[in-house]
Order: sequence, then C-alpha cells, then structure tokens
Amino acid sequence: MAELSRRTMLISGSALGALGALGVASPAQAGTLADGWTWPASGSIAGSGTGADPRWVWDDEADPLLASLFERGLIPEVNRLLYDWNRNDQPLPAGLPEDLRAFMEQARQLPSWADPANLAAGAGFHALKGNYIVVLTIVGAGMLATSIPKEARAVYYSAGGADLKDRVAKTNILAYAVRPANAWAAGGTAVVEAVKTRLVHAAVRHLLQSSPYWTGPIPISQEDMLVTWHTLATYSMRGMRDWGVRISSSESVGYLQSLQVMGHMLGIRDEFMPATWETSYTQSDIVLPRNMGPTREGVELNAILRTMLAEMTSGPGGIDKPLVNAFSRYLTGNQVADWNGIPREPLWDPVVRTAWPLLVKFREGLIGLPLVPATAWLLDEMIKKWSTYYLTRGAETKIVIPTGNRPS
Ligand code: HEM
Repeated sequence: MAELSRRTMLISGSALGALGALGVASPAQAGTLADGWTWPASGSIAGSGTGADPRWVWDDEADPLLASLFERGLIPEVNRLLYDWNRNDQPLPAGLPEDLRAFMEQARQLPSWADPANLAAGAGFHALKGNYIVVLTIVGAGMLATSIPKEARAVYYSAGGADLKDRVAKTNILAYAVRPANAWAAGGTAVVEAVKTRLVHAAVRHLLQSSPYWTGPIPISQEDMLVTWHTLATYSMRGMRDWGVRISSSESVGYLQSLQVMGHMLGIRDEFMPATWETSYTQSDIVLPRNMGPTREGVELNAILRTMLAEMTSGPGGIDKPLVNAFSRYLTGNQVADWNGIPREPLWDPVVRTAWPLLVKFREGLIGLPLVPATAWLLDEMIKKWSTYYLTRGAETKIVIPTGNRPS
C-alpha cells in the first residue's frame, strides 16, 4: 500500500479507484460508446441534461463559425483586429465579420448563475493561497496534461507544439487573468482571454483534422474539456485538502465558482459542469482515469516542461533538475510520472515526499518550526521562484488564433 502514492489517490479519489483505474487497468481506455455516460446531470449546474455524451459533443456555435472564417481566409485579419481587445468592458473592435461579432457578443456574457459574492471569495482565496494554486494548477496540472494522450497529441501537433515556451506563456495569460478581484468584471481581462481561448480551441478542432499526424475523433470534445478542467479544479482542491491547507466554506464555494465560470466561458455546457465539489469528485473519477496514459509526444513535452521549470529556479542548465523531477513525481504519483518518463531520483524522491507536506503544515500553522526538515527550505525557495514567475508574467504575449498546425 505504501507504493500507492498519495498523489495518485488524489487523482482518482480513493485507493480502490487509484488501483483499479490508474494503477492496474490498461491506460486510456476511453471512448467506446458502450461505456455510456453515467455521470448524473442532476449533479450539474443545469440540474438536468439532454442525455448527450460529452465525448461526442464539441462546440456547436464556435466550431462552424471558425471553419467558415478559415474558408473565407479571414483569420489573419481577425487576429489583427482582436490584438488590442484586452479588457472585459472594452467594446469589440469595428470591422469584425458580422457572424463573429454576433457570436462574441453573446459568448462574452457571464452565465446567469455567476454570483459576484462567490467570485469575490474565489479571488480572495487565489490571493491568499496563490503559491499552492500555482504549484497544483500550473506545475501539477501541466504534468498531468502530458499524460492525457489526446491533450498531449493535440498540443504537440498544433502550431504551439513547436514552441512550448511561448505556448506555456500564452496559457498563463488566462491563468493570470482569472486571479484578480475584478477578473470577470469591468476592468478585468478574464472574459476576453476566455473568449479568445474558445476561438483558439475551435480553430484547433478545424486545423488538426487536416494534420497528417492526427488520428481519432475531432479533438477537444466536451469530455476532453472536462478532463482538463478537473486537472485544474478537482485535482488542486484535493491536493490542498490532502495537505491540510485551511479553506473556509465560502472560499471553497468561491474557488469552485471561479473555475465553473471559466469552464462556462470556454464553452463547457452547464449540463456537464459539476455544481458542487462532491459531484465534481464523482465526475473526475469517471473521466480522468479513462483518459490518461503514456504517449511518445507526452514524454517529449514533459521533458521540455521540466527543463523550463529547472531553468526558472537555477538559470540555463537547470542544476535543480533532480529536485524538479522529484517534485513532479510527488505531485502526480508514480503511475503518471512513469508515463511521463520522469526519471526516479533515489536521493530526492523520499526527501520531497516527507518535506513538502511538513512545510505546508508549518505554513498553515498546524505544526511548529522544529518539525520542518532543513531540506524543506530548498523546496520553499523553488516554489517561491515559480510563483513569482507565474504570478507576475502574463502580459508579454497574446492569445492569437493559430493559422496552421505544427510545421513538420
Ligand atoms: C490553447 C486553456 C482544454 C488543447 C489554449 C489556450 C489556453 C488554453 C489559455 C490559449 C493559449 C495558446 O494559444 O496557446 C485551456 C483550458 C482548458 C483547455 C483552461 C480546459 C479547462 C484543452 C483541451 C485540449 C486543449 C482539452 C486538447 C485536448 C489546446 C491547443 C491549443 C490550446 C492544441 C492551441 C495551441 C496552439 O497555439 O497551437 N488552451 N485549454 N486545450 N489548447 Fe487549451
């Protein structure tokens, strides 16, 4: 049982789930119709569903629109016009194609269930626990993403796959936008970045279908979106709970709401979006295990990610690589780390496993300083550098609609 890492349990929620779904079953067995969609829509924000299976639903509004913009050769002009559209309260630029303008006017509306008080509590939580959120939603979720075959392959074979540094910087624009107190209000930028991302995803669906390397159904289905959403939401909440991070009930509701609003604005249907953490855990346990596994592309992307993380803490050459490897393994568990090709670090793996939870407990005021091993401060230093990087960068690049796939 000791072999069963606590991280792996985080993903699937229980020892049984982890053994059955991540540890023992063959990976990524998703997608057969016979599986059916068993998650009850009564647990969703909509409260009821159409009976649709999210594996076979994409984005009914954005997808045909983007396909048509490509056919009309309008993407470069749209990118030019949207370049300076940055703030939620900014009118759309003049000159956009009428069908795109109509779609964006509607897509930029917040859902009726968005509650400013909950969003404020969510923003307060982001401010208070930013370090843990960075560790889990950027480092941990990044490591999980490369062990989701459909996501790893979509990223690898799309234009951004050729320049992962730029790709990560672009993804951070949204991560950065959803944090401030006014993220979704006038003056904030989250609505803009989410709507742009929704357009990017629709473009990727269109483009990848003509990539010689893409096989399988159209990418970025509603289930794929949910899988990624869980690697951010459910995984991070379980992680913080597991570490003993103090979370009030209004912070918990607020954090969930900020993620629900993000999912909605990216085009996830309310009938699939979990209404509570409880229904979220249930859904995560259904969709994550069946969508995870190893790929050559994921291993390659993961190696680049770890090099980037090491360079962030120790400059070119990344002398902290063994520590990064050990922390990455700790965050995602042995099964996922092995799928990602992360080398074992006999010296650091046990150190990180012991030191990190004690460091968090100390920070949360649950234990005294003498119980924190000296090595924990190395981790503390590393996390601080990552957090500074991720919490302060974000305005250096812009989200633009890709015009082609990864050049081969
Ligand atoms: C682009 C976030 C789900 C694949 C982006 C971008 C953001 C983002 C912010 C824009 C940055 C850029 O242009 O590179 C998210 C979030 C998701 C999600 C928050 C779920 C909650 C997915 C899924 C897949 C995917 C499920 C694939 C299965 C891609 C690809 C790009 C992209 C291929 C474009 C890369 C390029 O520029 O070539 N995503 N994403 N995303 N996303 Fe997602």
